[in-house]
Amino acid sequence: MIVYRTKQDLASHLEALRNQGKSVGFVPTMGALHEGHASLITKARSENDALVVSIFVNPTQFDEPSDLENYPRKMESDLRLLQSMKTDIAFTPSVIEMYPEEDTRTFDLGGLDRVMEGKYRTGHFNGVVQIVSKLFETVRPDRAYFGRKDFQQLVIIQKLVQLMDMDITIVSCPIVREPDGLAMSSRNELLTGEERKTAPLIYITLKIAREKRSTLSPAELKTWVTAQFENQPLMDLEYFEIVNDSDLSPVQSWTGNVGKVGCIAVRLGKVRLIDNMNFD
Ligand code: PAF
Repeated sequence: MIVYRTKQDLASHLEALRNQGKSVGFVPTMGALHEGHASLITKARSENDALVVSIFVNPTQFDEPSDLENYPRKMESDLRLLQSMKTDIAFTPSVIEMYPEEDTRTFDLGGLDRVMEGKYRTGHFNGVVQIVSKLFETVRPDRAYFGRKDFQQLVIIQKLVQLMDMDITIVSCPIVREPDGLAMSSRNELLTGEERKTAPLIYITLKIAREKRSTLSPAELKTWVTAQFENQPLMDLEYFEIVNDSDLSPVQSWTGNVGKVGCIAVRLGKVRLIDNMNFD
């Protein structure tokens, strides 16, 4: 495995590979790798000649300085994992390498960035597309892999690829869960012991809610989910929305041939967790 720190080194290596007709798979990450990332890497490894994984904690997508500061960083063990998973290239740029000057670009994401996460994390998705667009321009992958846990991010990245008119296939990968159902996330390790014990309630609630859609309307289900968190001393529900899986508009009824996804965000102490489930 080769580790590159600069865009130029990475781009020239990839140019040579492309000239040999090799396909490039790309997994962008912010590190603190877990089994969720490993599942993306395994899939990307099996579908491409060359595999690039980036590790970069992107400052422009954090709306709270303390969140950026506390975000887990584990470069050494991450690189060991990437090596063991037969990654060809790890890209670990510095902040100055990715942002030699302030990135003032704003992207018109057609409102996809104004609902759910966008309402609670101002500027978050603009920051995500700033970095992903820079990474895509450098790596120019054939396929890029994103987890469905960040469902809204996945839809926004699909929109970004259209906006940039880039020929990149966005591969959506299933959520990987802990044995008790908690969706894997780098943030899980920031939970206290007590918070970690309560966290699976998010998944359990989504699962029961999905079963209840035979008797409750989407609006009634939203009320039911809200009630489940009312008496939880450790948890604050930020939102539960059932949305159309292509434009993220709220679903009003179960009829109609559109994909429906139940999306949830919960605050557990200082940690914010998101999850989602298909409600088709
Ligand atoms: O999902 C993430 O880890 C990040 O948002 C991403 C896509 C690597 C951009 O920083």
